[in-house]
Amino acid sequence: MVKSNPHLTKLQSNYLFPEVMKRKRAFLEENPHANLISLSIGDTTEPIPKPITDAMLRASQSLSKRESYAGYGPEQGSLDLRLKISEHFYRNKITADEIFISDGAKCDIGRLQMFFGPDVTVALQDPAYPVYLDGSVIAGQTGSFDLKANSYENLYLLPCNEKNNFFPDLASSPKTDLIYFCSPHNPTGYAATYDQLKQLVAFAKENQSIIIFDSAYAFYIQDPNLPRSIYEIPGAEDVAIEVGSFSKMAGFTGVRLGWTIIPQNLKFEEGQSVKALWNRFISTIYNGASNIAEQGGLACFTSEGKKEISKTISYYIENTRILKQAIDQKFETFMDINAPYIFAKCGPRSSWDYFNELLEKAHLITVPGSGFGKQGEHFLRFSCFGSRSDIELAANRLLNL
Ligand code: MLT
Repeated sequence: MVKSNPHLTKLQSNYLFPEVMKRKRAFLEENPHANLISLSIGDTTEPIPKPITDAMLRASQSLSKRESYAGYGPEQGSLDLRLKISEHFYRNKITADEIFISDGAKCDIGRLQMFFGPDVTVALQDPAYPVYLDGSVIAGQTGSFDLKANSYENLYLLPCNEKNNFFPDLASSPKTDLIYFCSPHNPTGYAATYDQLKQLVAFAKENQSIIIFDSAYAFYIQDPNLPRSIYEIPGAEDVAIEVGSFSKMAGFTGVRLGWTIIPQNLKFEEGQSVKALWNRFISTIYNGASNIAEQGGLACFTSEGKKEISKTISYYIENTRILKQAIDQKFETFMDINAPYIFAKCGPRSSWDYFNELLEKAHLITVPGSGFGKQGEHFLRFSCFGSRSDIELAANRLLNL
């Protein structure tokens, strides 16, 4: 018989989103006519703009002709797409050869965890997107789980709560090899300021850590003074990897397209180039993003594509405003809007209690804050992806709760 992977057995709970869906299904079994509105997983709902789907259609059709058929692409992904990402998101400060195209941020985070191997220590924001923790456990990085202390041996959680305005107190944070940092932050919606990211980069330099910066929600930043990439901070290219995604930017949650930046300057302790080893690693275990998706990605940078994408993002931001107005009447929120999520403190009871209450009384599916970490207890996360009519209905149901 084959033994199970011991790291998998260290996972402390089911993956959060399937658990939410399980409860939704159970509720629907008992209440088959309930008109449930999902404010749970952050999945885009609005169609992909036509200039972008047209480009994917053309790419798909070209595969049916001998003269235009293409198989494997370059290991790092389409050069044209890397050049566009470099120009549009990084003003060429990050060069195309530092960009690796992928099938999405979550998948690349998983690959990064495998890449760094089991012998690194890890810090992450609490609350956090569950993949950082669960993926680190699966990669064997967290060590054993101490039931009494309710914590992992090699994992350090950086509390982010209303007391520290949702930015970790770095002065009291331990030195770790890797630091996951997401801004705008999933689940709280907090977007770190320039000064805060400067502190983070200085902290990583001092401790010789590598930051894994998740910028999947950067396009939702409304305040022009807030940084959209860690590389806006001088020196970040010495200490940070950044993962980005077309999912929440262009509705590619199903199409799958993202990128990872591994700067030239980033080195391992032994002086080896992280980028060179990453290239070796991904060309061994990964064959790159779909060439159809890459053509869709390229179309996002045409003037029509950009205009349409920005309309869809504004639509979700307006959803967020509508929902926030209603949530503010019932619960406590702490953020300006710079992300498509609202993290609301509901009261003294457990997050799952509030989750059940909203499901039963308002037929709304949310995500319990405790599913993102201890500091999320008593909170609910509301996703603001959804059709306008659903969001307005959800806001009304909340007001009448
Ligand atoms: C979320 O709801 O946190 C995200 O949509 C999940 C994901 O991107 O994988």
